[in-house]
Amino acid sequence: MRRIALLGATGSIGRQAIEVVERNPELELCALAAGSSDLTELASEHGVAHVQRGGDLTELLDAAEPDVVLNAVVGFAGVGATLWALERGITLALANKESLVAAGELALAAKERGGGLLLPVDSEHSALFQCLEGRAPESVDSLVLTASGGPFRGRRRSELEGVTVEEALAHPTWSMGPKITVDSATLANKGLELLEAHFLFGVRYEAIEVVVHPTSVVHAVVRFRDGAALAHLGYPDMTVPISFALTYPERAETDVPHLDLAGGLTLEFSAPDLETFPLLALARRAGEAGGTYPAVFNAANEIAVAAFLDGRLPFLGIADVVADALERADGAPARDLEELVEADEEARRLAGSGVPVA
Ligand SMILES: NC(=O)c1ccc[n+]([C@@H]2O[C@H](COP(=O)([O-])OP(=O)(O)OC[C@H]3O[C@@H](n4cnc5c(N)ncnc54)[C@H](OP(=O)(O)O)[C@@H]3O)[C@@H](O)[C@H]2O)c1
Repeated sequence: MRRIALLGATGSIGRQAIEVVERNPELELCALAAGSSDLTELASEHGVAHVQRGGDLTELLDAAEPDVVLNAVVGFAGVGATLWALERGITLALANKESLVAAGELALAAKERGGGLLLPVDSEHSALFQCLEGRAPESVDSLVLTASGGPFRGRRRSELEGVTVEEALAHPTWSMGPKITVDSATLANKGLELLEAHFLFGVRYEAIEVVVHPTSVVHAVVRFRDGAALAHLGYPDMTVPISFALTYPERAETDVPHLDLAGGLTLEFSAPDLETFPLLALARRAGEAGGTYPAVFNAANEIAVAAFLDGRLPFLGIADVVADALERADGAPARDLEELVEADEEARRLAGSGVPVA
């Protein structure tokens, strides 16, 4: 029996994770967390004793003593739980990419000390993990992350000036929470994923490419030094990477339809438009600059997306706020969580000064 602490239980990933747990008799929920949603009903349905809303999630984890932490919280709020699991060598199924992006080196050092498993739940990284498993690092030439391109693929910058929140939330291939859906529309999500891939797989930024692939059937590709490339394919459904991480290394059955090749598949690829979607290039620059620049990118993006969703910032303003915060932040490395939290707060302050209040 594997006991799972599900953080972000009421969200898009959280709800799909509950379905995976309900389907697998060897999985059981032992802790549930959300931001402000009431968890009483969910907890009694699943007989879960350890429940928490907001606050320091490590207290919940200390009490629940899970075998696996599924971190599906949105944003920097997930950082404490990520470090908690990595430090203790407790298997971390990670959907909360923001925590790995922001904590970067600190998370890697905690993983080194803890010696546990870090299983990505992000579909592209789950795909990369599977293509890379058992391969010698020196045999790998480069990684390719695919991006659907979001609802505004093919538009020019001038055509994005007046886009509404509703339009940004209409993702063509994935159904997800509001923050990641806006991130997909700006390509900040692919920027976060580029940073995430660097930290997860230890691959330098020049060797990680992003390509636009509108149908999201190919999740990622690994190119090897002998000229071969391995790709991971499947219909876009988060059940697969969630189930993979929770049942690893068994790969349990799911009810996701199997790939129908003869029925026709469109596998088109093209380069992303970095001028229209500057957040992808900004993320790459933040990663290459190192230190706390990835944390600044993440924090400023969180502030800007919240302001866009609130109607206080136009769509194109998101990238402007992030660019300005990166320009003004000092980016000095964080030696511990306290310094990281300071860098995050400072970046939020810088970003907030560029956003109109209400
Ligand atoms: N959705 C996807 O398909 C997908 C795919 C790949 C990666 N991810 C990543 O997975 C994470 C979750 O995404 P999502 O789409 O599931 O988001 P979501 O639907 O917005 O759900 C977010 C969850 O986090 C909880 N939460 C927010 N602040 C919290 C806090 N301070 N403490 C504890 N819980 C908190 C929310 O609780 P409340 O209900 O109380 O607000 C909710 O349960 C994100 O990092 C995202 O980038 C998502």
